[in-house]
Amino acid sequence: VGHIDDVQELRKTKSSNIPERFIRDKTERPTQHKSIPYSSNNIPIIDLSKLLKGSKDQFFTEILKLRNSCQEWGFFQVINHGIDSELVERIEKVGKEFFMMPLEEKQKYPMIPGTVQGYGQAFVFSEDQKLDWCNMFALGVEPHYLRNPKLWPTKPSNFSETVEIYSREIRKLCKNLLKYIAITLSLKDDVFEEMFGVAVQAVRMNYYPACPRPDLVLGLSPHSDGSALTVLQQGKGSSVGLQIIKDNTWIPVHPIPNALVINIGDTIEVLTNGKYKSVEHRAVTHKEKDRLSIVTFYAPSYEIELGPIPELLDDKNPCKYRRYNHGEYSKHYVTNKLQGKKTLEFAKVKDD
Ligand code: SIN
Ligand code: FE2
Repeated sequence: VGHIDDVQELRKTKSSNIPERFIRDKTERPTQHKSIPYSSNNIPIIDLSKLLKGSKDQFFTEILKLRNSCQEWGFFQVINHGIDSELVERIEKVGKEFFMMPLEEKQKYPMIPGTVQGYGQAFVFSEDQKLDWCNMFALGVEPHYLRNPKLWPTKPSNFSETVEIYSREIRKLCKNLLKYIAITLSLKDDVFEEMFGVAVQAVRMNYYPACPRPDLVLGLSPHSDGSALTVLQQGKGSSVGLQIIKDNTWIPVHPIPNALVINIGDTIEVLTNGKYKSVEHRAVTHKEKDRLSIVTFYAPSYEIELGPIPELLDDKNPCKYRRYNHGEYSKHYVTNKLQGKKTLEFAKVKDD
């Protein structure tokens, strides 16, 4: 992706002409789908403090809410997650500062195709593929061998340190959430932790500049996540951008101050044999406002072989996914364009 396809540079030209490569086919445009306005009871809200230190009653009520969120939505927002709001603000600040640097500076960390690390546009594999109205910066964080030191920026000066500290906190959150998710499935609470080995963690910052024609473009193509769990932080004061599919309708996820958005990824869909689904989502752009999202992907170690958990299978619930190696799945995920839930067909048992 050259200068001409960098959306922040395009935005600077103040032209209202959208280059052809960003203009979606009619059927893919945001306006072509029914989307509903905000109502406060949209995406469920989970109060983590009730799970961590609530009374027995509070714990039980929240576990039921969590089960319902995973089963009916695949998405929820978590409040009272215990991550210092100062840290949340700091990661956002360094993220913004990174994207505000001149293009030449950011291009010192070019996106490496097929790995989703570095700055640029990920998931682009052909000339005729439409581009998303988004700049990304992504890093492998854990385990350490995933880190490519050449891609960890020296500017802004506290960027790398902040990513490190933030990621450590998000890792704790993911471990806790997986523990409670196991409980909602009546499984041993350490079942995922045991299974995952040293979990893989990556961070991706998505910067969506304002777009003069939000009706023609997508900020991020529809996809489900290749992770087990994803934690998404929506920038303070940023526009509504994330939309999820529910009952064939695109539903906007409105930012709640200090909340983190959690979603079920493909790994949990497979492990639960589809009881909890990784839900398709996308991002749309805004006419006047830029938007930054900071996304953490948490997944099993690449050596791990995955398949539906036997306890979750029975006659009424036959095995829908084959066993596969998670590293292979990750490779498959990052070497294909974002394509809704099609990526997960990799793991489907083929009926013939
Ligand atoms: C994502 O799905 O990775 C990001 C969506 C968003 O920016 O809200
Ligand atoms: Fe996603």
